[in-house]
Amino acid sequence: MGAKGYSDLQKRTKEIYIEQHKNYSRDKSIFNRFLAVALDPKSYDLPKEFFAGKSVLDAGCGNTGYFQVAMHALGASHITCLDLGTEWMPELEKVMKEHGIPDSALSYREGSTAALPFADESFDFVASNGVLMHLESAIEAEKALCELARVTKKGGLIYAYAGISSPGIVDRYIVPALRKAYQEDSDFRQYIDNITPEQVTSDLLTCFSSAQEFDKSFPPSLQGYIQTLFTLDSATFTQNMLQVPVQLGTVLGFDWIKDKLDRLGFKNIRRVPEKYWVRSDYRKFLAPLHYNRDTRLSKLLYGDGHVKVVAEKL
Ligand SMILES: C[S@@+](CC[C@H](N)C(=O)[O-])C[C@H]1O[C@@H](n2cnc3c(N)ncnc32)[C@H](O)[C@@H]1O
Repeated sequence: MGAKGYSDLQKRTKEIYIEQHKNYSRDKSIFNRFLAVALDPKSYDLPKEFFAGKSVLDAGCGNTGYFQVAMHALGASHITCLDLGTEWMPELEKVMKEHGIPDSALSYREGSTAALPFADESFDFVASNGVLMHLESAIEAEKALCELARVTKKGGLIYAYAGISSPGIVDRYIVPALRKAYQEDSDFRQYIDNITPEQVTSDLLTCFSSAQEFDKSFPPSLQGYIQTLFTLDSATFTQNMLQVPVQLGTVLGFDWIKDKLDRLGFKNIRRVPEKYWVRSDYRKFLAPLHYNRDTRLSKLLYGDGHVKVVAEKL
């Protein structure tokens, strides 16, 4: 444990995210892509009317702000934002001001999902997006889930991005291999830590320009197309996948979270149907495979996909 009782792992996780999340402000298309999903009540498998007048907790909020903007737009009366440390607060406050969200609609609290600084049954809607899988262990993730459940009002709801059910080879083999390379190969680590769309695009253009000399089937227009493949969004995604110290996603599938929420007295525990994420970078070509698991290839690559769960407290 370090200063303020945070473990080195927690400090490292939050530092990484604070830096990555600044890109959402630098490139509005990243922010807007997440906002469009968060604004759609179907993303929580809930009707739009649910949110009116509700008190919301965003546990592990980070400093992107899209979720807060969405909750305010959907009619939530108050949104409490919680994350480790305090460094994320000025960043998030800036985003809130840019979007005209009144101070009275927001609270900012330092804290950990391990021990939420709130009384039992404080919130109507307790959300935790992309946090459980970055905790130290499945035991910590279970503790966090207990805390999220504790602060949910009776009749209120939990929404959590839990993990990946029956992961395919991408998450079982490819991502872990790249994460291992990031840990062990200092050249690769340096490339990833400093990755920019300009650098990757320049590298791709150099290689493809030289290849055009030998393979005349590469059209001259290919160069313009290559410039669209790797954006700041792609760079942020790559860093997100490789830099974060812990990735428990493949352990925390639907059955894992359902079992815990059942025992915590939740009902109507359901998986939110997967949404199609429209991409503008190289992932444009992966999105159809990720969304539609009806083919052998897509199932092999992505398994049962990411699990977002919503459940009601009895
Ligand atoms: C993938 S980011 C997600 C941020 C935000 N929910 C979003 O959707 O943009 C994970 C966040 O969880 C936070 N986090 C990690 N461990 C935490 C803990 N024990 N308690 C609270 N927040 C934590 C990190 O600091 C980081 O901001």
